[in-house]
Amino acid sequence: MNVIHLSAECYPVAKVGGLGDVVGALPKYQQAAGISAMVVMPFYDRKFVKENEFEVIYDSTIVMGTFMGSFQVLREATDKLGFPLHLIKIPGLLDRPEIYSYPDESEQFVAFQIAFLEWLLNFEVLPDVIHSHDHHSGLIPFLLYHSSRYKSLSHIATVLTIHNGQYQGWLGWEKLNLLPDIDVWEGKLLEWGDCINPLASAVKCCWKYTTVSPSYLEELSVNSNGLEQLFISEKAKGVGIINGIDTDVWNPSIDPMISANYNTETATAGKAANKALVCKEFFLSDDKPLVAFIGRLVGEKGADLLPEAVTRILLKHPDEVNILILGSGEKEIEEELAALTSTFKENYNVFIGYHEALSHRIYAGADFLIMPSRVEPCGLNQLYSLRYGTVPIVRSTGGLKDTVIDVSEENGYGIRFEEANVDSIVDSVSRAVEIYKNSTQMELLRNRMMNLNYSWHQSAAQYITLYNNLKSL
Ligand code: ADP
Ligand code: GLC
Repeated sequence: MNVIHLSAECYPVAKVGGLGDVVGALPKYQQAAGISAMVVMPFYDRKFVKENEFEVIYDSTIVMGTFMGSFQVLREATDKLGFPLHLIKIPGLLDRPEIYSYPDESEQFVAFQIAFLEWLLNFEVLPDVIHSHDHHSGLIPFLLYHSSRYKSLSHIATVLTIHNGQYQGWLGWEKLNLLPDIDVWEGKLLEWGDCINPLASAVKCCWKYTTVSPSYLEELSVNSNGLEQLFISEKAKGVGIINGIDTDVWNPSIDPMISANYNTETATAGKAANKALVCKEFFLSDDKPLVAFIGRLVGEKGADLLPEAVTRILLKHPDEVNILILGSGEKEIEEELAALTSTFKENYNVFIGYHEALSHRIYAGADFLIMPSRVEPCGLNQLYSLRYGTVPIVRSTGGLKDTVIDVSEENGYGIRFEEANVDSIVDSVSRAVEIYKNSTQMELLRNRMMNLNYSWHQSAAQYITLYNNLKSL
């Protein structure tokens, strides 16, 4: 079995969120399970690329009949990620520092996909499966099966994983001419809502699609930013597979980014030491429960609820709880959260920005991690927090629902609430404050959480079963 993953992100090369974590880990675990898996992503002018050795393994001449000129494929020379990593470099399009948000983003991702297929035409041994992640590589199934240029590749199976159905990669019809040699009669397979919709097209044309949790598969039929009917009619092609975590990176007993390493046996002392340091760093006392939020400051994550929730929590529990936030996103939310530091000097702090090492320190040092998400296809933060013995406080949605059991239930270890609103957040943090008072219960919860197994082994095996079953389709 030979699989190629196509993605816009892959940790540690380029990561904005969980997509990067997944694509940086899943292929490694698939290789360990005995299949051949590699990653192809756009070239970014970033630290990892500058500091590591790459070799050019393919150099195209001008690709006639397309808009994008020539391109190169670079391969990371040492396979240090545990799988072969390839970058597609296109002068003027895919050679920039940022991953997203350029005005010509649609041209960038279309060019990425065409370059990949052009390169594939030159393979001696073709892959069994092309595995696209999100809309950035969502045109691949259409191009494979409906462009005469890629006819020789059209027997290859395609799988799409939906990490986030909110973003669909919409393109106006004027962009149709970017796609080479396509059968215009099949244009309907590109369309949703009167434009080219790469995510919808991938769902229609792929052999199978997966979502990153079973609950999210159900939710897409009810809430998917306009694609609800599509998901209802294509439901039979969908499979929900929960994400795992890379325990080489996320493991408190060896994590080089935290100051005091700890395991299940030493968790109480280890977490206390990490908490003391993170509290010192943010001018908070470490004698109260520390509730943290880590994530993108956007509506999907319920981050717009945080400013009012923080205010109400700290007014309701003066001197009983500290809150620490790490995130970046919408300017208005960033500013409101930053402004609160002058109101609640003693019990609150925030770091606006993206900081990988700090996120590890917070997972290790916090007592609770809050995720009031409106939509959460899987969520990795709660899985990291479980691994680091930090009690997750989550809204019951998507992957959060599938991975966190409320303490009131048998063998529960987290706090769950139903509604994404300020009242529910305040009530849940009040529950956390009460639970924290009972150190024996905290110890028991830590033990339970840290003994859970969300490593990738199980989920990687589920993907392999899915690939094997494609043969019979
Ligand atoms: P999403 O992909 O929707 O953002 P996930 O929960 O799947 O949500 O993954 C988020 C990932 O990004 C986690 O690894 C989390 O620790 C990380 N992350 C999010 N925001 C930040 C930040 N500001 N600094 C460091 N890491 C962050
Ligand atoms: C997306 C989702 C998140 C998921 C991640 C990795 O960004 O928002 O819930 O964990 O992808 O699959």
